[in-house]
Amino acid sequence: MTAGSLASYADDLFNVEDALLRGFREEAFAQGLPPIQVPGELARILQVLIVQSSARTILEVGTLFGYSSIIMARVLPPGGHITSLEVNPKHVALARSNLQAAGVADRVTIVEGPAVRSLTALSGRNFDFVFIDADKSSYPEYLEHALALTHAGSTIVADNVWRGGRVDHPEPSDVDAVGASRYNRMLAENPRLLTALIPTRDGADGAAVSVVLP
Ligand code: SAH
Ligand code: DHB
Ligand code: MG
Repeated sequence: MTAGSLASYADDLFNVEDALLRGFREEAFAQGLPPIQVPGELARILQVLIVQSSARTILEVGTLFGYSSIIMARVLPPGGHITSLEVNPKHVALARSNLQAAGVADRVTIVEGPAVRSLTALSGRNFDFVFIDADKSSYPEYLEHALALTHAGSTIVADNVWRGGRVDHPEPSDVDAVGASRYNRMLAENPRLLTALIPTRDGADGAAVSVVLP
């Protein structure tokens, strides 16, 4: 544990990761998946927002090995459901196996394929909660789809919208920061959205939390 770190302090005190999730995380790293699942403090923020907003239908963009899907599924009310989009078949396979082992496979549907294609196919569906956490360069496109797939009162959360401060530049140096920077500006300029940026990883990154206004 890092002394003086709010993130690790919060993560320890309000721990979300049980032995099962820890095992999934270690197995995913052993298989070479990137260690980019939600940090503990954001995991708990997602759970609080889902419970607070009484969300029953959740759309996730970016499944990885199912870590955040399981964390969100655990606070869903009976009958609640998550649709999670993932392009990498290896990630999809491991996530499906993890969802089974965690006992939430009936509550989570993973849709394999590029997220924009899957989002287009979801046209007409409606979600109470959207968690955007895939390729950052496509965040603006994901937001357009999220707005079409939500209703007044829905919550839209996006991870990695600060990127060590690289978004705070007129022309960010990498495509990830360009996407996240454009995403943040779209949030700010949309009168249908009320948005707060929340620091994560002790300010190294951040999450955008938006509510869709009536
Ligand atoms: N939400 C996960 C972490 C997601 S990491 C968690 O916290 O546990 C980002 C994921 O997005 C990776 O698995 C990556 O394969 C996926 N991804 C990247 N580009 C994508 C795309 N165009 N469509 C769908 N998924 C994509
Ligand atoms: C990266 C992606 C993430 O979703 C994340 O939480 C951290 C890092 C990345 O692609 O570098
Ligand atoms: Mg992320």
